[in-house]
Amino acid sequence: MCGIVGYIGTDLAYPVLLDGLKKLEYRGYDSAGVALHLGDKVAVYKKEGKVSNLENFVQGKNVQSLVGIGHTRWATHGEPSDRNAHPHYSNSGNIAMIHNGIIENYAQLKEELVQKGYTFQSDTDSEVLLNFIEDIKINNACTLEEAVRVALKRIVGAYVILLLDKDLPDTIIAARKGSPLVIGIGKGAHYLGSDASPMLAYTKEVVYINDYELAIVKADELILKNLGNETLTPFVQQLDLELAAIEKNGFDHFMLKEIYEQPKTIFDAMRGRLDMQQQTITLSGIDKIADKLLAANRIIIVACGTSWHAGLLAEYVIEELCRVNVEVEYASEFRYRNPIITDKDVIIAISQSGETADTLVALENAKQQGATIFGLVNVVGSSIARLSHAGAYTHAGPEIGVASTKAFTAQLAVLYLFALKLATLKNTISQERYHRLINDLAEVPTHVQWILDTQDEAIKAIAEKYKDARDFLYLGRGYNFPIALEGALKLKEISYIHAEGYPAAEMKHGPIALVDEELPVVFVATKDSYHDKIVSNMQEIKARKGRLVAVASTGEKTLADLTSDLLYVPLVDEVIAPILSVVPLQLLSYHIGVLRGLDVDKPRNLAKSVTVE
Ligand code: F6R
Repeated sequence: MCGIVGYIGTDLAYPVLLDGLKKLEYRGYDSAGVALHLGDKVAVYKKEGKVSNLENFVQGKNVQSLVGIGHTRWATHGEPSDRNAHPHYSNSGNIAMIHNGIIENYAQLKEELVQKGYTFQSDTDSEVLLNFIEDIKINNACTLEEAVRVALKRIVGAYVILLLDKDLPDTIIAARKGSPLVIGIGKGAHYLGSDASPMLAYTKEVVYINDYELAIVKADELILKNLGNETLTPFVQQLDLELAAIEKNGFDHFMLKEIYEQPKTIFDAMRGRLDMQQQTITLSGIDKIADKLLAANRIIIVACGTSWHAGLLAEYVIEELCRVNVEVEYASEFRYRNPIITDKDVIIAISQSGETADTLVALENAKQQGATIFGLVNVVGSSIARLSHAGAYTHAGPEIGVASTKAFTAQLAVLYLFALKLATLKNTISQERYHRLINDLAEVPTHVQWILDTQDEAIKAIAEKYKDARDFLYLGRGYNFPIALEGALKLKEISYIHAEGYPAAEMKHGPIALVDEELPVVFVATKDSYHDKIVSNMQEIKARKGRLVAVASTGEKTLADLTSDLLYVPLVDEVIAPILSVVPLQLLSYHIGVLRGLDVDKPRNLAKSVTVE
């Protein structure tokens, strides 16, 4: 949420910042802005809307600067507008600052500042923090670095801040708590970003800044300190990421590219872990906490959004295969409802970004209470990865489309491996079933490729038919219920059509009242042990003139009598089927969004990495 970039070096800063903002635009696109040090002053250019608006606005303006900071905003305090766009100036006009995060005690600080005569140009909490810093600098006659340190000790909330001071033409000051900050080390230059994508074209050497650290960044020097003013040694890491991974490579949208990448990303999630020759699974994260897992009375899965849907499916699979109690929690509820946690609990945290604020804080709380944390994360080096005792990366590569697709199926692939491995350790699975499931799992990339190759045109036609619907209902039973939820979420996000996911049998307890000849009802109805039941549910909808769409297994005959709008997936074991069923639903949402003329990569009001509560 909100993307920040910075550059200091020997090249013009503005093109580097602009390119970086475009790469980080998935984090928010309510407004964008840059601050450039022009020698005698700090110039701020900012505009409501996408980065392209900023680009047009800056044309013809003075950008002759080797140092600058930039921001792309997802609004929290204050509506999207030029006024609330970052960077903000301090009252003196000498300091410019950008901020990603939320200052929770801003109201109290603002009151103190107003009493001292400060005025505010925006409605943001960020401008309050900036003036608070400036006030300390003036009153204590200290350096900006010192003022930042003093100020941050009073701040409640989350932040990454970057500051430019008129009196420090060769320095960017940066600090973080709770929101991500990466610094890339170039030749006579430093690059700052919310993630590594803005610096990928220039360097592979990066430092991930930790909470409560402050960086004094010059072209050829990076000084890292804690808030106690002790100097720290930066831990330089090599990025294992190629530039092509963050480009569209000929696809119209990142979302489509990422859907089509899934045969590879699912394979990558299992690569080196699933050995089909030996018929074994290696997950070093499980080995690391095997004693805890074997002794655990229950496993708690904590996540948000799409990652929560992966967790819900994992609950079904782990309980079935490992015979251990599993609870799935929305991180935002879990963290506030004072749950009972002991050192016997193992928590699986699922997060694409590894930065989701609610998940992160829920884990911090649980860790303090003695729980063991297993992080299932996509972004390498992210906060959740670092906080976990053990874990596994999903290796899906950067996911840029705001709607999660390939990260979800990669999460499922690793969760299946997790469940199967734990089942063998606990001896709760027969040899025969184990071999059947790993064989089906190994075939998933090929099956997904088949869906992409053979079903996309049919799905597009179905999208055309239903694109103007006002509401959708998605229904599934058992392993397919989480996929119904995920299908509905994808459609909501991308097309702005109201959609609800529901357990198919629950329909009769309320939602069936919605059914009329207008309502499309999408059944996730692959062949499983409840197939006859779901066919009956489809009959019930048909009898009420609902418009039926179904995800069906290849070779399926019964469903064809009920509807011709069928999205086929290969027939596999019912446990493994959901990882296939979701793919046509991703494509359906994508095509409906595109047909409705919407920006599917940047749906309104959303942002990729939700770093505020
Ligand atoms: C939906 C989507 C969100 C995320 C949620 C959690 O397409 O992307 O619902 O799944 O914000 O994000 P992570 O997985 O980064 O913790």
